[in-house]
Amino acid sequence: MIRVIILGAGNVAKHLYTAFYNQKSVEVVQCYNRKGLSLHSDQRENTITQDFSSLKEADIYILAVSDDAIEEVSNLLPFTNKLIVHTSGSVPMNVLTDTNKRGVFYPLQTFSRDKAVDFTTIPFCLEAENDADLTLLKKLSSTLSKKVYEVSSEQRNVLHVSAVFVNNFTNYLFSTANDICNEHDVPFEILYPLIMETAKKITKMNPDLAQTGPGIRNDSKTINRHLKILTDTTQQELYKTLTKAIQSKYGKKL
Ligand SMILES: NC(=O)c1ccc[n+]([C@@H]2O[C@H](COP(=O)([O-])OP(=O)(O)OC[C@H]3O[C@@H](n4cnc5c(N)ncnc54)[C@H](OP(=O)(O)O)[C@@H]3O)[C@@H](O)[C@H]2O)c1
Repeated sequence: MIRVIILGAGNVAKHLYTAFYNQKSVEVVQCYNRKGLSLHSDQRENTITQDFSSLKEADIYILAVSDDAIEEVSNLLPFTNKLIVHTSGSVPMNVLTDTNKRGVFYPLQTFSRDKAVDFTTIPFCLEAENDADLTLLKKLSSTLSKKVYEVSSEQRNVLHVSAVFVNNFTNYLFSTANDICNEHDVPFEILYPLIMETAKKITKMNPDLAQTGPGIRNDSKTINRHLKILTDTTQQELYKTLTKAIQSKYGKKL
């Protein structure tokens, strides 16, 4: 049995709690958060603490707190020589206090409060200072997922900036397309199959080969027609910037 304590009560903490709750080989013995919140409707009240000094014994302490709070929270832990890990994509492992054994337990997925996730498909990016701790983290993540990777802080940062492009920026573009459709009373859902096919296609072929559209074809009349219906200057600038980027990458001129 791996005994875990989760610190934080946000998106990642809640999803991890629920995922571990369904595992026989993992016990979440306690949770810490500033507001004393429960992470699950079945969580016993006596397993929640707002007080660092009453933290119990565990094999792994998971700091699922905001990036900027990781260092501060790790410095407030009232014990030494325990395995403490954070769950961030971009924060280096060495911001954690070196009075404890340090590691990273980064689930590379987007977590929102009310959207269930399937952990079996989530890649876990792990890092630890010694082999025994890495083995323990591998054992813990293997209870949830088959996709377990050993990744350095530098490699994790590369993955994280790439994740910003494929998830955060792409989602902003979905939101922009939704606004444009709403403004012109066209159902956004008509685009769902295109969105799904775009994402599925790049798992089968290089994204460079999958690039289509007026930018790469240099269809300047179509580009101008599009720019005319965009009334919002941010949307126009975005369209021009991305079209220019596509054309400079694939050798065409705007
Ligand atoms: N969301 C994602 O998609 C995702 C995916 C992978 C990894 N991550 C990483 O997982 C970590 C948590 O992200 P999240 O999305 O779960 O964040 P979140 O929903 O915003 O929750 C952040 C948690 O951190 C706590 N916190 C913030 N400052 C604190 C402090 N000074 N002391 C104690 N607790 C503090 C907050 O407590 P209060 O409510 O009291 O402020 C809250 O419980 C981050 O490192 C993030 O980069 C997130």
